[in-house]
Amino acid sequence: GRVAVFMGGDSAEREVSLKSGKAVLSALVSAGVDAFAVDVRGCLLKTAENPNFDRVFIALHGRGGEDGTLQAILSQAGIPYTGSEMLASALAMDKLRTKYVFEGCGLPTPRFRTMAAADEAEQIVAVLRPPLSVKPSREGSSIGIRKVSNAAELAEAYKQAEALDTLVLVEEWIEGPEFTVSLLQDQALPAIGLSTDHVFYDYDAKYLADDTHYRIPCGLAPEDELRLQQLALDAFRVVGCRTWGRVDIMQDEDGQFWLLEVNTVPGMTDHSLVPMAAKAAGISFEELVVRILRDTLE
Ligand code: DAL
Ligand code: MG
Repeated sequence: GRVAVFMGGDSAEREVSLKSGKAVLSALVSAGVDAFAVDVRGCLLKTAENPNFDRVFIALHGRGGEDGTLQAILSQAGIPYTGSEMLASALAMDKLRTKYVFEGCGLPTPRFRTMAAADEAEQIVAVLRPPLSVKPSREGSSIGIRKVSNAAELAEAYKQAEALDTLVLVEEWIEGPEFTVSLLQDQALPAIGLSTDHVFYDYDAKYLADDTHYRIPCGLAPEDELRLQQLALDAFRVVGCRTWGRVDIMQDEDGQFWLLEVNTVPGMTDHSLVPMAAKAAGISFEELVVRILRDTLE
């Protein structure tokens, strides 16, 4: 049957999604799959009632495409789609609630508070140890994330984060190194170590900079990498994800790992991490995309 590759959308990650979508589409086409692009803008209910496709490869990042709303519509319409279902998608989009689940399951995640007003800054700095990371809870690609070291900076960063999402998360900063583990069909791929001259692995470091360094092999001792991969699998499992995803993890100076978040539609651009990890495992981009699609056939 025909495959629609959903891309673009209305989220702040629209540009990233267009790149992911185009890469996915051309890989599917070269694998002989009958596929076409759909730039998803606005409401999909009508399209889902009378689709001109049989299944969907979701290459949408951020709210509206990665957050469960689309997954609910497609499930309701009986149209198979790639990746996680509604609940896991919605949960993973929300970093704050994901952390409640990690904590509830005894998985390590940096200490945090939710912040509802700029004047809570003093109070938060008294309970969490700066530096802190301020994040709009339901955003991706590090958009709106700031590192702060005192109450005044926190109040300022709150206002920026709050403009992107009314739900703002503040967590204790872990210097890193940062690692990311890609999951494919319930298996962890080789971990990637990230380093950048930016303050952290932010939007520019992710998509624009040439001075971002990716270590694969990640540089950890084999038993530590196994521990890291197991933690990523645990995170994937407790959030309830399906088929593929990517888990972002920090390591502190004592060697302890801390979960940041789970991504249910990770980037698939030429700078992206899941394709890099797949390649290191001997899986070409084309095979990766076909394997993700194949899971919708079950
Ligand atoms: N949110 C971006 C696309 C990622 O996690 O790769
Ligand atoms: Mg994310």
